[in-house]
Amino acid sequence: MSREGGKEVVCVTGASGYVASWLVKLLLHRGYTVKATVRNLSDPSKTEHLKALEGAEERLELFEADLLQEGSFDSIIHDCVGVFHTASPVTLVTTNPQADLIDPAVKGTLNVLKSCCEAKSVRRVVLTSSIVAVAYNRKAIGADVVVDETCHSDLALCQENKEWYNLSKTLAEQAAWNFANENGIDLVVMNPGLVLGPILQPTLNFTSQLVVDIIKGKLAVPFYQCVDVRDVAHAHIMGFEKSSASGRYILAGEPLTHLQLMQLLHKLNPSIVDASTSVEENPIGKVSKKKAESLGVSFMSMEVSLKDTVESLKEKKFLNFERCNN
Ligand SMILES: NC(=O)c1ccc[n+]([C@@H]2O[C@H](COP(=O)([O-])OP(=O)(O)OC[C@H]3O[C@@H](n4cnc5c(N)ncnc54)[C@H](OP(=O)(O)O)[C@@H]3O)[C@@H](O)[C@H]2O)c1
Repeated sequence: MSREGGKEVVCVTGASGYVASWLVKLLLHRGYTVKATVRNLSDPSKTEHLKALEGAEERLELFEADLLQEGSFDSIIHDCVGVFHTASPVTLVTTNPQADLIDPAVKGTLNVLKSCCEAKSVRRVVLTSSIVAVAYNRKAIGADVVVDETCHSDLALCQENKEWYNLSKTLAEQAAWNFANENGIDLVVMNPGLVLGPILQPTLNFTSQLVVDIIKGKLAVPFYQCVDVRDVAHAHIMGFEKSSASGRYILAGEPLTHLQLMQLLHKLNPSIVDASTSVEENPIGKVSKKKAESLGVSFMSMEVSLKDTVESLKEKKFLNFERCNN
């Protein structure tokens, strides 16, 4: 049974981000009142695209909050029925992983969950984790293994390979489950793959920059487990609304090798993408979609998602086809 999204009040943390902006858009479209947190209210690049969303004038409230400031979310969450915690630093470049990634991810998640605990109004929390908290282990790398929601990334392997972002997401999700279990919070976790699709915000987020680099032939990865940002946002809402939702949900469309991805891009834009660009093909990972599909999420084809990604990046002037192969 699903609860209809009426005029209920929900909070989205890190609302100016790539994924969260789409989530805010879909929540407003569904009739929710959204309390959106950003780090800096006086930076128009973090707020104007949210204010321009349909329904924002009537039902969007913006607040300033920082993950590392204890109690920062208390007064914002106090009357919310749902909290979507998406805020977390996303980067692979750091000289201080503890301060740049791990503290905001882990302490930030606990701060938000503590505020949820204090607010007696919160029915459910939906946390944006990542596939990097699921599949980064020795078992998951290989052709015979199907990665599903029972898999967990290996903390020692993250440390050994200095995969600090993976470590931050794995630790944050673990901390969230422990806190939720100890404090009786109804927690649902989303674990998306690499997110593709149109961007709403005016600046490039870290992973969209990676996508630009891939399109320009500057970056190649053995295989991609991608998902469209609109499917990710929809899955978050289903995870909140469906009373039967529980546990974790891997969000990933069909896997693509680098060659397959480049061929798709080439088909979409023959003039700019070199389809012969390739890397050594590794066995492609198999990821189970069953649980996400049980939420009512059907994944968009990668061709449509890539087409919309390229169009959006072009429109926002992050891709200039004349210079793409330079
Ligand atoms: N993009 C992907 O491929 C992908 C895949 C799987 C999971 N995810 C997860 O999805 C979530 C959103 O990622 P995204 O790709 O949308 O990245 P994004 O655009 O960089 O959004 C991240 C958001 O977190 C906020 N944030 C970072 N540090 C903060 C702090 N100390 N206090 C308050 N807010 C803080 C950022 O605020 P500022 O704007 O002020 O910096 C930003 O709004 C993250 O949890 C990420 O791990 C992303």
